Amino acid sequence: MLKTKISGVGMYVPSNVVANKDLLKYMDTSDEWIQERTGIKERRFAHRTEETTTTMGVVAAKIAIERAGITAQDIDFIIFATLSPDYYFPGCGVLLQRAMKMKEIGALDVRNQCSGFIYALSVGDQFIKTGMYKNILVVGAEKHSFGLDFSTRGRNVSVIFGDGAGAVVLQPSSNDSGILSTHLHSDGESAEILAMYNPGTHANHWTDQKLADFDDAEMAEMFMSHAMIDKAQLFPNMDGPAVFKKAVEKFPEVIMEALKTNNFQILDIRLLIPHQANLRISQFVQKKLGLSDEQVYNNIQKYGNTTAASIPIALCEAWQEGKIKEGDLICLAAFGSGFTWASALIKW
Ligand code: ACO
Repeated sequence: MLKTKISGVGMYVPSNVVANKDLLKYMDTSDEWIQERTGIKERRFAHRTEETTTTMGVVAAKIAIERAGITAQDIDFIIFATLSPDYYFPGCGVLLQRAMKMKEIGALDVRNQCSGFIYALSVGDQFIKTGMYKNILVVGAEKHSFGLDFSTRGRNVSVIFGDGAGAVVLQPSSNDSGILSTHLHSDGESAEILAMYNPGTHANHWTDQKLADFDDAEMAEMFMSHAMIDKAQLFPNMDGPAVFKKAVEKFPEVIMEALKTNNFQILDIRLLIPHQANLRISQFVQKKLGLSDEQVYNNIQKYGNTTAASIPIALCEAWQEGKIKEGDLICLAAFGSGFTWASALIKW
């Protein structure tokens, strides 16, 4: 059966480096706390007005397209994964199509948060395998810095996230290398554990799920209100320990699923590129599966958690560092809000 290969990778991170100690200006935290709990030393924040999720995606996309040896005009489908779009609608896919002066091709936006890139990759893989498209651009990008609560109230969330973008070009493979399989999962039971409720149409419909403070009638009935601002309800919410517990269960499960499907073992993995959620989660998964340090790629120390961008950024950096060679078995794995989790096994 025809396989899909990744023929170009690209990444972009803003030049503005924000060290842990820089966050002390806004909140009560410490470099020690952040490093000990998350492994993060610094992250990048985009320019407030000159950079958007889409513009960062465009820079990464241009690099991936050039490395694939094609031009933007050759791209026949766009898949853009993000949870921090430029507009509530339309999505970033069409903004990228416009910015890159591409043909009137299809542009699909994926909303699967931390698993967004692997979901997008899987969709692209199906289109290539059926022969519908020949050059698909998959982008994961986030501008988190614009939508976080940087007061002490929001510190458990805001210290984790950073901005950036990664992109790949998918093409039909001419041999047996390429994406071997993808595995996608979800469990909506815990949807509110890691979520941004507003603006939204929920109108308190899910209050039996013990959402945050929604007692104000105005908040319940309006898409967006002053009360939401006053009560900090326009920021993401996260039950960190609950996310951690589920992540360390589902990461190993979905990695093993990919290996078993293709009759491989842990030892066969050349490089595991996990979604960069938290260094402690990656270390836990590494230990549980018995992977060596050389088999797991982490760069969260430099960039924080960039959600849909984290896997393509890590993939690109690992490739640039010569850690991915032809024929290597590469495993991508993600877990995040939804909950959703996913993996992809690739023969490079
Ligand atoms: N600086 C200093 N103190 C803080 C900070 C901070 N930035 N944030 C929270 N604290 C305090 C809390 O207020 C609490 O204080 P208290 O004991 O006086 O009440 C204390 O630290 C412990 O808080 P916990 O939330 O229990 O801390 P925990 O050890 O669980 O670490 C963390 C929090 C890092 C979020 C952890 O739960 C975690 O990593 N969870 C996984 C979540 C994750 O990775 N999310 C990423 C997005 S989802 C994804 O990508 C999979």
